[in-house]
Amino acid sequence: MPKNALRQYLELLKNSGIKELYRAESNKLNILTKLHDKYAICTKCPLHVGRIRFVYGEGNADATAMLIGEAPGEQENISGRPFVGAAGQLLDKMLIAINLQRSDVYITNIVKCRPPGNRNPEANERLACIPYLVEQIQIIQPKILLILGLVAAQTLFDNTNTLQWHRDKVHEFMGIPAYVTYHPAALLRNSNWKPPAWQDLQVFQKEYEKLR
Ligand code: URA
Repeated sequence: MPKNALRQYLELLKNSGIKELYRAESNKLNILTKLHDKYAICTKCPLHVGRIRFVYGEGNADATAMLIGEAPGEQENISGRPFVGAAGQLLDKMLIAINLQRSDVYITNIVKCRPPGNRNPEANERLACIPYLVEQIQIIQPKILLILGLVAAQTLFDNTNTLQWHRDKVHEFMGIPAYVTYHPAALLRNSNWKPPAWQDLQVFQKEYEKLR
């Protein structure tokens, strides 16, 4: 805008009583922090009843990669942070194995409040919470997604196919390439799945290295 026009515009605003202008927030972390605070009192689904903490997500707001799990568990509900329990500790090791730190990526879940007894989140709960995830993706604009486990995969790709079916393909969510692997909690239950999970991680790492 030419200087004169800008001066005239500001003059116009001043004359109409507008004395202050605010710059739109451009820091992604600040935006996410504000949204966390706004949504932390959400009552859109029954999961809010058992909520101690709303587990929005955490990590690098400018991350190339976003990791998406299923739902907070007991430790996450207490701490307000995703993947901090036993599955989270394994996830940290999985990341280190592909040269990543937790702080390199952004980690979140399909639903942000803990389902009672760690049951799978119901369809209505997932549907209520998905807009928060979509908004997180819009803000962070990751270049690659790693989807952890069957529930997250079936939710995002809107099907009832097996984990194997999901692992065999590269998917897209909101136009972003998405890779599916075992949920770390499943790997804790059955260590036979660790070798195929390691293969998935290596494929993911190769793509990640190309994109970052
Ligand atoms: N399992 C998940 O899917 N997410 C967490 O945050 C913790 C355990």
